[in-house]
Amino acid sequence: MAEKLLEVNGVSKIFRIGGMLMGKKMTAVDDVSFSIDSGKPVILSIVGESGCGKSTLCKMILRLHNPDMGDITLLGHKYSDKKNYDPKQFKLDVQPIFQNPYETFSMRKTVDSYLYNTALRLGICGNRAEADKLIDETLHAVGMSLQVVKGKYMTQFSGGELQRISIARALLTKPKIIIADEPVAAIDASMKMNIVNLFKDLKEQFQVSFLYITHDLSTAYYVSDYIATLYRGGLIEYGPAKEIMDNPAHPYTDLLMNAVPRVGDKWDESMKMPDMETKEYAITYCKFAPRCPYATDECRKARPDMKNIGEGRQVRCFHPLQHSAS
Ligand SMILES: Nc1ncnc2c1ncn2[C@@H]1O[C@H](COP(=O)(O)OP(=O)(O)O)[C@@H](O)[C@H]1O
Ligand SMILES: [Mg+2]
Repeated sequence: MAEKLLEVNGVSKIFRIGGMLMGKKMTAVDDVSFSIDSGKPVILSIVGESGCGKSTLCKMILRLHNPDMGDITLLGHKYSDKKNYDPKQFKLDVQPIFQNPYETFSMRKTVDSYLYNTALRLGICGNRAEADKLIDETLHAVGMSLQVVKGKYMTQFSGGELQRISIARALLTKPKIIIADEPVAAIDASMKMNIVNLFKDLKEQFQVSFLYITHDLSTAYYVSDYIATLYRGGLIEYGPAKEIMDNPAHPYTDLLMNAVPRVGDKWDESMKMPDMETKEYAITYCKFAPRCPYATDECRKARPDMKNIGEGRQVRCFHPLQHSAS
């Protein structure tokens, strides 16, 4: 069997809110499992509303948080076997891109210093001349150049340009996977698709997979190979993007897809959930049942398992939507 690129296996993260005595526990990520095959690179989008646990899941994959349950394996290295994964190799294999490029770069350092730092510190380039060449080539791949970037500070670039430079920096290590947590959320609407579309080209050119995290379905719609829907910490649907978009099986994904509009449209305000109450995280039956138009007594008694529905698709629902094959 081919080695998986990434395996997320029954992963949960529980936060304690408030004091040790009176505090409550909140399951921000709840028993999430999915995997990405190695070999052909893919873009897997994880979609879900604000607060559903996307960043917490990213942080666990980036080893910034330890899972409270479950385990993550990347290229055969199990995270819980701490000795097993050389930290330097991990930095080369997995690269993050964060939401706000203005927080990625400091006001006091030139932007190119980040690129040189990555190229020289991680041993990718042996000397400055090699670094110049690699950095320039990589900046060209994202539509910029070293000439344009050199010696300039963060304030001399737009958010979109800074995010392109962040992507170039991530590519310098020739990573196997880039974890992009809402990389265009802080970018002008008109530039969002340019950047997300870039992922498609870079996937082929650099043979790198992307985990693209977004609350903005319209951007995921056009670039994803696979889609995973998160709802209140739990994965509720997973599968090839086209099949899910054409025929969502979970009523929640259906609700989201019906609202997938044109590029740049925001999440439909009418679908915004009220702030999540701690008690709602503790629902032991189907978490979507309180909002689901199809919920039955069964849905209010037990939590459905993730079940296979063919075509590589999985759905966590007792009554997945049936679509005619027309
Ligand atoms: N360090 C933390 N301590 C306590 N609660 C947290 C922490 N990080 C995130 N949360 C909570 O976990 C839930 C999921 O957060 P997050 O993963 O940031 O969601 P998303 O990225 O989908 O918006 C939210 O209710 C958030 O308030
Ligand atoms: Mg987030």
